Amino acid sequence: MAESVKIVRTVRDLRKVTAKWRKAGKTVALVPTMGALHAGHISLVRLAKKKADKAVVSIFVNPTQFAPHEDLARYPRDEAGDLEKLAKVGADLVWSPSVEEMYPEGTSTRIEAGSAAADLEGAFRPHHFGGVATVCCKLFNQVTPDFAIFGEKDYQQLAVLRQMVRDLDMPLKLVAAPISREKDGLALSSRNAYLTEAERAIAPALYAAVSAVARKVASGTPIEAATSEARAELTAAGFQKIDYIEVRDAETLVMAAGSGKSFRVLAAVWLGKTRLIDNVAV
Ligand code: PAJ
Repeated sequence: MAESVKIVRTVRDLRKVTAKWRKAGKTVALVPTMGALHAGHISLVRLAKKKADKAVVSIFVNPTQFAPHEDLARYPRDEAGDLEKLAKVGADLVWSPSVEEMYPEGTSTRIEAGSAAADLEGAFRPHHFGGVATVCCKLFNQVTPDFAIFGEKDYQQLAVLRQMVRDLDMPLKLVAAPISREKDGLALSSRNAYLTEAERAIAPALYAAVSAVARKVASGTPIEAATSEARAELTAAGFQKIDYIEVRDAETLVMAAGSGKSFRVLAAVWLGKTRLIDNVAV
């Protein structure tokens, strides 16, 4: 059986551990998560272990990135299961503060996310990226990692955080990890647990649709035609609502235009009460 993984719940205890590592000249990689860990998260921890001497995984369901009508209260939580998986993969430390420890009474400073947050997810979740940027800034200051690992699953989140690190001269390097998928193409997500059996059967059509757009655009189909066909396919598959399906500049996320640049197809759709996002490279 794998040894259990050390968990700390206060900034003070966290710093005791990281200060020792620093003194010993160890490099540190941080994997920020909201828990309910799946194989996608674990692939990030593996990458962290490759990048640095010590891998820290934070587990914190961050209230400031959820709007009042969103799924904060029902967001899946499984600390025991998470700790078991993290012990098995060989994480060195779990940083799991309470809401009060992360946001002590009187906390009021916030990061305002940059231009990469302006639309797509930002249009449907207006305060989301401000909350993500603020908690990630705090996590970076708490853990002081050399590397922070993020999944391409949340592609716009990665773009917003890259911008924050660059704009605010944060002394760490962000590392992007590829999307882990089920055999049928569905991107792994803690929110997949919300899907009914019938919805789960429909869900892979999202990956099929974004992949089809990428193929068509790569072979010269105009973006407008490719995305409107995808909308029709998604609706026919049983998705009730399409928040967006767009082709964007892979780096800046502005509207795709010109040649010789790399593009990304990004989509957000609803299946019953569950919102799913996905993206692929063109
Ligand atoms: P969470 O949704 O728990 O995701 C944590 C990290 O796992 C993110 O970097 C996300 O992109 C990555 N991830 C999720 N599913 C993945 C998959 N199928 N393949 C590869 N990576 C995947 O994203 C957040 O938490 C929060 O916004 C956070 C950054 C922790 C700030 O609160």
